[in-house]
Amino acid sequence: MAADGGRPIDALLKEERRFAPPEAFRARAHVKDESVYEEAERDPEAYWARWAEELEWFRKWDKVLEWNPPHAKWFLGGKLNASVNCVDRHIRGPRRNKAAIIWEGEPGDTRTLTYFDLYREVNKFANVLKSLGVKKGDRVTLYLPMIPELPIAMLACARIGAPHSVVFAGFSPQALASRMEDAGSRFLVTCDGYYRRGKVVPLKAQADEALRLLAGKQDVEAVVVVRRTGDEVPFTPGRDRWWHELMDQAERLCPPEVMDAEDMLFMMYTSGTTGRPKGIVHTTGGYLTGVYATTKWVFDLHEDDVYWCMADIGWITGHSYIVYGPLANGATVVMYEGAPDWPDKDRPWVIVEKYGVTIFYTAPTAIRAFAADGPEYPRRHDLSSLRLLGSVGEPINPEAWMWYHEHIGGGRCPIVDTWWQTETGAIMITPLPGVTVTKPGSATRPFPGIKAAVLDDQGNPVPPGQGGGYLAILRPWPSMLRGIWGDEERYVNTYWSKWGRDIYYPGDGAKVDEDGYFWVLGRVDDVMNVAGHRLSTMEIESALVSHPAVAEAAVIAAPHELRGQVPVAFVILEAGRQGSPELEAELKEHVAKVISPIARPDRVLFVPDLPKTRSGKIMRRLLRDIVEGRELGDTTTLRDPEVPEQLRRMYAAR
Ligand code: PRX
Repeated sequence: MAADGGRPIDALLKEERRFAPPEAFRARAHVKDESVYEEAERDPEAYWARWAEELEWFRKWDKVLEWNPPHAKWFLGGKLNASVNCVDRHIRGPRRNKAAIIWEGEPGDTRTLTYFDLYREVNKFANVLKSLGVKKGDRVTLYLPMIPELPIAMLACARIGAPHSVVFAGFSPQALASRMEDAGSRFLVTCDGYYRRGKVVPLKAQADEALRLLAGKQDVEAVVVVRRTGDEVPFTPGRDRWWHELMDQAERLCPPEVMDAEDMLFMMYTSGTTGRPKGIVHTTGGYLTGVYATTKWVFDLHEDDVYWCMADIGWITGHSYIVYGPLANGATVVMYEGAPDWPDKDRPWVIVEKYGVTIFYTAPTAIRAFAADGPEYPRRHDLSSLRLLGSVGEPINPEAWMWYHEHIGGGRCPIVDTWWQTETGAIMITPLPGVTVTKPGSATRPFPGIKAAVLDDQGNPVPPGQGGGYLAILRPWPSMLRGIWGDEERYVNTYWSKWGRDIYYPGDGAKVDEDGYFWVLGRVDDVMNVAGHRLSTMEIESALVSHPAVAEAAVIAAPHELRGQVPVAFVILEAGRQGSPELEAELKEHVAKVISPIARPDRVLFVPDLPKTRSGKIMRRLLRDIVEGRELGDTTTLRDPEVPEQLRRMYAAR
């Protein structure tokens, strides 16, 4: 794809609206002036060390950074435990009885856990895990929806030094099985079911299906099942146990494991450019430092804030900005189980009003959906508690930004558009809300201590105000990924090979304007962003090809007004198979089942051929030209130059 990632650069550069931090906001903000940027630049290691000092360590580090490109170690020799930082240290002082998690289920049931409640639950579940045989270093898979047991289980894993691997509850049994197999995970925590748009999703049945797929490939010793809906579920004696029964018997206190700063805290699977998801590895000291620092400054978190991030904990946003970042800061976090449009389209605003949410963080796709529903939904509610809004997951178009500003923020709340990735662990490019003059559509500047640039193919900086290039991170940062689980080569090739071993390549197109502001334009590789969810074209292609009717498939991301992008599939059928609306529906369903409903193609086109080079490589670029209605690019290298034109007619005819 061109380095502009498909986003219209020229229109963006004409954006002239500016929003300075309101004086009342600035006056109270943690960061009030730009000097923090220079201070961090003067000595980045000392700066990050100052952040790390705000955490609690059993033993302080000997050295801040060891950088053997592309491998970094942070806070060498330091010892700490993430659960101590997120829970124990708060119960010793005035936060003991402060709400840590205010949870609301989709049906409207609620549960509030104070820091002391959380402490008790985490300790007990850590003992449960131990009693099941989980040891330091064992990977524990958590296949749970947005219920309090998910952060409890994560922190319990952290407490005993067992890295967790959370698999989004919206993922299919196959996706769960392949992640458990890749992680070599012998333990699973799941639940009977959960609520989504008024219906029960039978999660235990899905987990059982995954475990059947794993038979003979990966031993699973224990499955812990949370009772959420109370529905009858299949139970395998000896292997399956109820969460509440184990908790009833568990010892009250579990001493935290002394973890090295570089010990793995968790892994999180994400899509890359091949069909196989990669397990991104994050470690303890650096990750916690990064999410702690960014939560405090980017969200300007104060003691009395009520913070709500609408993401699912099954994605990195939830790990960093529902669990570890806010809890390490001792914040009150709102957590919601269900769909934002259930029972009506004002559910988020009901929640904001009810709990007095002050900081709200969501994705552009959600904002576009709110805007499409109309301002009457937020208008029904008192949103005056809000003081700061955030956006994450995909580029935000200026119109959506303005709608968010006016109709949710009441024109008074700064908006932080935060660019980062699963791999970066923490926010990388973002406004500081008490300092930065924002421009709708721009993530503005690298967080203090982060060094970013826009480079061309050769690694030369693209001058400010000129065309697009590739986003690059020029210096290691504490919360950076430490690797891809079990695949060193892929780690080096994917992230550290475009320009050299010391420059990180995120795979996004970007540009810098004359003020040094970054405008992230979207992915430049075969990764797409569907409603803020990251998917790989190859993953969807291999799902399609696994259907007996499909001989070959090419998938591309087409622009979509609400969802940002949607997958569109071009499919060649096996000889003797005929395309039909029924088969199209069947293939869409097949992808939803193999990967997740998120990956369901928006359209499936049955085609006689695909644009291929003489060496047989599919030119997806030409397919993108077709769906975006652009002039067809160079077709001279094609085996059959007629194919794109033929496909274009077929696409238009539908
Ligand atoms: O393309 C960028 C987009 O989301 C990708 C990372 O996806 P994931 O690892 O799933 O993490 C999402 C949540 C951090 C990036 O490569 N992206 C994320 N935030 C932004 C963004 N694109 C533009 N602006 C953003 N604020």
